[in-house]
Amino acid sequence: MIRTSICDLLGIELPIIQAPISNATCPELAAAVSNSGGLGMLSVTWRQPDEIRAVIRETRSLTEKPFGINLVLESDVHDRLNICLEEGVKIVSLFWGEPNSYIRASHQAGALVMHSVGSVSEAQEAASAGADVIVAQGWEAGGHVRGTVSTLTLVPAVVDAVAPIPVVAAGGIADGRGIAAAFALGASAVWLGTRFVASEEALAHHTYKQKLLAAGVGDTIYSTLFDVGWENAAHRALRNSTVEIWEKAGCPPRGKRPNEGQVIARKADGTPIVRYSFSQPLETMQGDVEGMVHYAGQSVGLIKDIQPAARIVQQLKQETEQVMGQWQ
Ligand SMILES: Cc1cc2nc3c(=O)[nH]c(=O)nc-3n(C[C@H](O)[C@H](O)[C@H](O)COP(=O)(O)O)c2cc1C
Repeated sequence: MIRTSICDLLGIELPIIQAPISNATCPELAAAVSNSGGLGMLSVTWRQPDEIRAVIRETRSLTEKPFGINLVLESDVHDRLNICLEEGVKIVSLFWGEPNSYIRASHQAGALVMHSVGSVSEAQEAASAGADVIVAQGWEAGGHVRGTVSTLTLVPAVVDAVAPIPVVAAGGIADGRGIAAAFALGASAVWLGTRFVASEEALAHHTYKQKLLAAGVGDTIYSTLFDVGWENAAHRALRNSTVEIWEKAGCPPRGKRPNEGQVIARKADGTPIVRYSFSQPLETMQGDVEGMVHYAGQSVGLIKDIQPAARIVQQLKQETEQVMGQWQ
């Protein structure tokens, strides 16, 4: 398998990164990916301080290898970053916002920063702010989507703009063909989200995982529809019953959509989840989970099975070697 400069920088063997997939991340998933030679990640934006400490400590008990944490900067999350740094985290990933003060704090604590961007200008700003790695997220990505340019064009443009800073390709990658393509574009590593939602360890609800298997490359919708909790933020998700009732109503704006405020599911502690919430269905949730947002990238159409994360990493490695072997 190709070894790139990012392997030495991050202390990993394979340039394959399990993308932060919000609260579907967990210690078992992150540790399985790291133990397989890739980089596992924990999303901590929507976890309470005690839980953040607990998931970091648990991950550390499961692996001696490096792993990272992710924060979405849509709100002020300095307190959460401080907890992670206090816990000794050395790889910090940031998304969706102005990263300067977070980069400074991370560097002061001796941590590296990877910043996810959706455009060349955002990449240049992150590079000027001192980001150690730039994650270029194409429009086909699942979850919240920062830009409007496809991975195929964004990655080489960002590589050119921020050289020699390493660039990670995100969005649309779910197998060895995509990984080989990303290297051909100049990426130093790949960042896979939807593929790892469809892993045994991910905390996504089982009906969500089954929906991923059934979906094709054209079954996602890019919109700002699921906005309760995070407004005006474009995201890509599977079409589901909530999308259908909204489309049937003529795609009305926020405030005029069918069944707004309707409680459709509940978290394990009983907290209600309303229609159009930005919360994704987790295995502990109950109710009409089908009507909740099922974040997924176009790469969903390439995913045919739910597997343990270690096997996914192994398979990705083999497929990549096979594709690149054909080039010689
Ligand atoms: C379920 C899900 C949740 C996500 N949550 C986050 C998050 O909390 N933070 C973040 O930086 N990116 C998040 N993303 C975006 C991913 O990090 C990544 O950019 C994206 O999954 C890449 O596209 P792919 O799904 O085609 O692999 C999420 C993506 C998915 C699918």
